[in-house]
Amino acid sequence: MKIRPLTGVLGAEISDVDVREPSSFKEIHRAFVKYGVIAIRDQSVTPEEQIRFAQKFGEININKFFTPHPDYPEISLIIKEPQQRMAIGESWHTDHSYDVVPCMASMLHTIEAPEVGGDTGFSSMSSAFGALSESMKNFLRGLSAHHSNDHVFGYTAKKQYETHQDGRVLNSELAVHHVIHPVVIKHPLSGKECLYVNKDFTTHVEELSEAESESLLQFLYRHASDIRFTCRLRHAPGTITIWDNQSTWHTSINDYDGYRRIMHRIVIKGSPIQSSLPR
Ligand code: SIN
Repeated sequence: MKIRPLTGVLGAEISDVDVREPSSFKEIHRAFVKYGVIAIRDQSVTPEEQIRFAQKFGEININKFFTPHPDYPEISLIIKEPQQRMAIGESWHTDHSYDVVPCMASMLHTIEAPEVGGDTGFSSMSSAFGALSESMKNFLRGLSAHHSNDHVFGYTAKKQYETHQDGRVLNSELAVHHVIHPVVIKHPLSGKECLYVNKDFTTHVEELSEAESESLLQFLYRHASDIRFTCRLRHAPGTITIWDNQSTWHTSINDYDGYRRIMHRIVIKGSPIQSSLPR
């Protein structure tokens, strides 16, 4: 197996491996924890084989909002057709931060990729947190934030977004999730401190006024999307990309109008969020 880091902070490309081979998993999992996001190239897997590979990371979360694969409910279809303008997941986010126990990882198997564009961007939340001043780190460690999916998947979004109107996003009545998580978490596998707010799902900081919360979140979003914390992954048919939702953000880069892009997506359940503060 060859592992090639993409940047100094996160991301790696893996080649010369077959994910169906049980003995390969230990090293793949180590790379996933170390790099936050991995792209395993040239995998020729069926939906059943993708599901089996995903189950090695943990139990699968059956997604409620994205179109399910007609034969495999564990797999959601993330599709953009040539005539569609909006992509799913266009702004920086962390999957399922609105859940009481958010998911640990997400996996995309590229079925069809545009000739150009359609990459996914990732940002390291441990590097972004680590680059802040000690005073800011201490301030953030004492805060918690509200997360919700109503404005993204609920009725208001249904009226607003092409992805809801054309049937790629479903079940707006189920968008009722609302939780509070620490702003800084301790990663369950690496033990690193990671920023845990994101533009899509975080609504406000519990301990601050509306104006203070808005200014702080805008500052953190600008800071954590700085290019030095990011990497960009090019997809190709057969690539399996897996990312860690507690240590990274991601964004689907929508620069491929006129092309089709099809992904088979699986989300893997996680463990309860831990605050970075000692109990
Ligand atoms: C997602 O946000 O889960 C999808 C990312 C992508 O399609 O690049």
